[in-house]
Amino acid sequence: RFVASLAALDSEVPAPHRVQDRRTDSVEVEGPFHNVADTDPSLSGNRGWAEAIIARVPASTLGADLVRDHTITRSEALESVINTAHASLWGSRSGVERAAVLRRAAAILDQRRGDLLEVMAAECGKTIDQGDPEVSEAIDFALYYATLAEELGTIDSARHRSVGLTVVTPPWNFPVAIPAGSTVAALAAGSAVIIKPAPQAQQCGSLMVHALWEAGVPRDALHLVHLEEGDLGRALVADPRVDRLILTGAYETAALFRSFRSDLPMLAETSGKNAIVITPEADLDLAVKDLVASAFGHAGQKCSAASLGILVGSVATSERFRRQLVDAVESLTVDHPTNPDAQVGPLISPAEGKLRAALTTLEAGESWLVQPRQLDETGRLWSPGVKAGVRPGSTTHLIEFFGPVLGLVAAADLDEAIALQNQVEYGLTAGLHSLNPDEISTWIDRVQAGNLYVNRTTVGAIVRRQPFGGWKKSAVGPGTKAGGPNYLIALSDWEPDGPRA
Ligand code: ALA
Repeated sequence: RFVASLAALDSEVPAPHRVQDRRTDSVEVEGPFHNVADTDPSLSGNRGWAEAIIARVPASTLGADLVRDHTITRSEALESVINTAHASLWGSRSGVERAAVLRRAAAILDQRRGDLLEVMAAECGKTIDQGDPEVSEAIDFALYYATLAEELGTIDSARHRSVGLTVVTPPWNFPVAIPAGSTVAALAAGSAVIIKPAPQAQQCGSLMVHALWEAGVPRDALHLVHLEEGDLGRALVADPRVDRLILTGAYETAALFRSFRSDLPMLAETSGKNAIVITPEADLDLAVKDLVASAFGHAGQKCSAASLGILVGSVATSERFRRQLVDAVESLTVDHPTNPDAQVGPLISPAEGKLRAALTTLEAGESWLVQPRQLDETGRLWSPGVKAGVRPGSTTHLIEFFGPVLGLVAAADLDEAIALQNQVEYGLTAGLHSLNPDEISTWIDRVQAGNLYVNRTTVGAIVRRQPFGGWKKSAVGPGTKAGGPNYLIALSDWEPDGPRA
């Protein structure tokens, strides 16, 4: 079922995931699919490249004109966008033609890596080390779905020819990879797209769409709309000419969209509350490193982030583990992305509500192993916190905070650890650190999550190697995994009345 993510697919992938010198290399877009390389910061040319990007961040407005030009304030303008997209003949092009356009898009996205990193940092506070793999992922999505589009064309051209109109509503926390992945999937499947980037990430989404237009996606097949919240958004989601919606966001957003239109087919990846189990048979050094990276990368603002460590048996009382974890967390550099050394960046907006409560208060039984501090007046920059003594059933155990707070809960044995992991109503990512094969197979058989990771982080799924999707309340719709072999078929199969001409 969902466990193939890591072990099975990795063994099939021939090319190593190498790192790249941005000065000299360019991405190969033709031929069999290989994941593109991230930038290697240890090469001096790449460091200079990154520093030049960072220097531009404070004054960056790269996507501002596109945001202004595609902001829609009147229902007549939205109506005309929907009309045009609905009438698009993009789906009548062959899979091979669509793939050629997406391959060009991949090359353009690679050429724009620096621009995209600049805007991600300026608009969303993404540090370069977090943004760079995201651009790689966007390119991977375009190249991988291009390959699938070519295959669809040869499998069953009648069935998979055209799939209508898809609305894409991506989140702000992966402001390039998720908008790109959802959009190129729908385009690869032959659907026209209307994308509404998240309000916090409008420039990022606009630059990505512009790259697709430049690559040759026709304007009638891909529409960028920035909508004021409220009536226009409701009108778009509720329009009966929309064949499906691809959403990545909160479970509550999916429920809201459903309330706008109950029969709207939705492919949604929604929310997570993810844990890493660490048993006494783990490599504890590696476990600390992966727990910290999973909890605090992008300040914990990832649906895939681990915000709970479940410590089995002696790990819960291990002084060595405790000391290493505290040292690792306290040594993180927390700053805005204009600091090239920043490892934990700012929150997207000032901490409030449940996140502020999580950063500033303790529940019964809890104590601070590392107490978070607000580092600037904006309320957006917080040093990461770690809570020990989390009690089963508490808010820290069960609720997603989407910020830099990690809870630690003790479990007597692996059975209890799995029960604690499964007690949450979400099922997005789950991690295990153990070198014991019996523990690994027991855990894989019983844990309830879409993406299972053994002896690594719970973040940073790589296209095709780790197809990514949710289970339980982490998905609405079929739960088909993005970046996996079934994603385009899931989009294609949803044409209720057969292909349009
Ligand atoms: N795909 C993102 C990750 O794996 C959410 O971290």
